[in-house]
Amino acid sequence: MVKVAVCGAAGGIGQPLSLLLKQSDLITHLALFDVVNAPGVAADLSHINTRSKVTGHGKESMDEALSGAHTVIIPAGVPRKPGMTRDDLFKINAGIIRDLAEGVAKNCPGAFVLVISNPVNSTVPIVCEVLKKHGVFNPKKVFGISTLDVVRSSRFASEINPAIDPKSTRVTVIGGHSGVTIVPILSQIPGQSFSKEQLEILTQRIQYGGDEVVKAKDGAGSATLSMAHAGARFATAVLEAAVTGKSGLVESTYVNLAADADATAAFRARTGLDYFAQDVEFGHEGVKRILPLPAISVFEQALLDEAIPELKVNIAKGTSFISDSAKI
Ligand SMILES: NC(=O)c1ccc[n+]([C@@H]2O[C@H](COP(=O)([O-])OP(=O)(O)OC[C@H]3O[C@@H](n4cnc5c(N)ncnc54)[C@H](O)[C@@H]3O)[C@@H](O)[C@H]2O)c1
Repeated sequence: MVKVAVCGAAGGIGQPLSLLLKQSDLITHLALFDVVNAPGVAADLSHINTRSKVTGHGKESMDEALSGAHTVIIPAGVPRKPGMTRDDLFKINAGIIRDLAEGVAKNCPGAFVLVISNPVNSTVPIVCEVLKKHGVFNPKKVFGISTLDVVRSSRFASEINPAIDPKSTRVTVIGGHSGVTIVPILSQIPGQSFSKEQLEILTQRIQYGGDEVVKAKDGAGSATLSMAHAGARFATAVLEAAVTGKSGLVESTYVNLAADADATAAFRARTGLDYFAQDVEFGHEGVKRILPLPAISVFEQALLDEAIPELKVNIAKGTSFISDSAKI
């Protein structure tokens, strides 16, 4: 039995993500939870002739949706409007994520938790702190989905250099998932020969790619379809490794570095960061290993130097949201 719960399943990301997950033979039960319209989305998807059973769970049924889940994917919350940063969403989304993490601790404490809701740099620490509070935290099992930055990197790179195949080229993106914390390692794309100017334009476009969508949607939300694609790609990799034992699956993802304490000890000592996006190989228990940082150019080192202080602030904001409320 592989039960996957999607929290925020009736939203702009939740619906197409659930549609893509319904195609997966790895999933036997897709439980859709949302405070609005989950039963309707579930009824619709349940007619698709694939293996999984689909159930819908409304506002009062979070426990039922999460009970016994193998994996919980969270795109619940509010998206950005033009002029907003991801950090502006913290006020509303932090509480939503905290409550869902409480639900995970109570109903499926061993589940993989895949966080989409922004600001990811802070919402992942919130989930980890809640699970710690309940004594059920396993850093190998909590992930911030930054795959959309990876997807955008190879697509945008291929627009500048058509010799790059966007589908088969995987660009490592380190740091975090917002603005300057997004550090794409374009120097490691095989065969690339970008000029300095192209690198600057490309990096800026990847860091602020989400703004292109927010602006084009003009108040109607942020990336949903490309995010659903990225989320399904990430969830499939995690599930394939965990359920079928497939090896060698690697994605960049934002994790608590205790997931591979030995491999990250020197980096943590040097930067003071407890969370970071980096290439991770998946295994039966989630994080099998965090790969060493790739070789990076002088340009990319400067980006990383700019990302680190911003990440620290984002992480502290998420962590203290839980630790400060515990003191009250
Ligand atoms: N990680 C990424 O790369 C990435 C990319 C795009 C968007 N996002 C983020 O994903 C989130 C969702 O975006 P969207 O466009 O789908 O928004 P949306 O408003 O279309 O959908 C969000 C859904 O969450 C539901 N919801 C709200 N509170 C809930 C709760 N307590 N429990 C369960 N469900 C709840 C809403 O009813 C809604 O259906 C936003 O925070 C957005 O910033 C992340």
